[in-house]
Amino acid sequence: MLDWELAWSRALYGPNGFFARGERPDGHFRTSPLVGPAFAEAVVTLLDRVDHALGRPARVDFVDVGAGGGELAEEVRERAPSRLADRVVVTAVDVAPSPACRVPGVVWRSTPPRRVVGLVVANEWLDAVPCPVLVRRGGRWRRVGVDSAGREAVLDPVDAAVRAWLGRWWPIGRRARGGAELRAEAGTPRDRAWTSVVRGVRAGVAVAVDYHHRLADRLAGRVDAGTLAGYLRGRRVAPIPDGSRDLTAHVALDACAAAVHAGVGGPLRTTLTTQRRVLADLGVVRAAPSPSLAATDPFGWLDAAARSGGVAELTSPEGLGGFGWLVHEVALPVRVLASGGRSPVH
Ligand SMILES: C[S@@+](CC[C@H](N)C(=O)[O-])C[C@H]1O[C@@H](n2cnc3c(N)ncnc32)[C@H](O)[C@@H]1O
Repeated sequence: MLDWELAWSRALYGPNGFFARGERPDGHFRTSPLVGPAFAEAVVTLLDRVDHALGRPARVDFVDVGAGGGELAEEVRERAPSRLADRVVVTAVDVAPSPACRVPGVVWRSTPPRRVVGLVVANEWLDAVPCPVLVRRGGRWRRVGVDSAGREAVLDPVDAAVRAWLGRWWPIGRRARGGAELRAEAGTPRDRAWTSVVRGVRAGVAVAVDYHHRLADRLAGRVDAGTLAGYLRGRRVAPIPDGSRDLTAHVALDACAAAVHAGVGGPLRTTLTTQRRVLADLGVVRAAPSPSLAATDPFGWLDAAARSGGVAELTSPEGLGGFGWLVHEVALPVRVLASGGRSPVH
């Protein structure tokens, strides 16, 4: 029996772990970069805005953190417009082995660079960062342990740091829930991981995109059962830490935002909004092709129809469109997104 956080870490990143042995997201779940080119096009538009705000420096970075198969990094490299193409340095960061077949011009590494001037995007990275899994018992939050068959046991009460995090970000302990078990995941490791990435941005923008919840969701009881889940070959499955499947939990992006503000110095503007709003801001809108195109240019019609379907998937409020975009603008004189929304930092 291991603490869930450790079991999760070993199951994904330990010897022969799910990601460590080179399993790719495209075999198991569908992320925005895998939907089609529209997501990368939006990221290139954002990179162009960042580059403009930086005054088009001699070198501008694009960093894809938790790059998986590197699809986003590769598309950004290939789609960069000529005014960017010879200045952009594209880096894909992943702890897992890089793909055997790589696009020239994408540098792979296992840790985020420490000095970035440009744009960092972490798409569905933080949900794969293991964190403490907790259950409320006897009026206290306790850690949950698990064996490799998925059988759980209740362990020790949480330490002071986790207790403080729960008190601020998941303060549901005193609410009765009709006898049902209250569970939670503490975001402390995600807060640390994201703060460390943003700290490396000297000037530019850092974006974490993920399925998420906010304090209001937690207070309203929408995640009372916790969000830990497994994914295997496109299906949601039980979270069993045996290395066979991806393990994931939604991200408290509002807590990550506050951690960055507490831990990163310098001028910083932070926004927490949705993918749907950001993509509209970046010009990704759905346009169904005209039926008459099918007669004159059937392949053109098919391309346009596929793109329109992809945009619908990327912006669907119940799916990828509802994903959180946590955006930090670091030392930038002008805003790069109009779709600001409310600041998550109080
Ligand atoms: C859910 S996948 C997302 C892949 C890709 N960004 C996408 O959207 O298709 C998460 C990726 O994060 C990587 N990862 C997890 N922890 C990491 C770390 N500390 N540093 C770099 N990569 C990490 C995993 O190996 C995995 O490839």
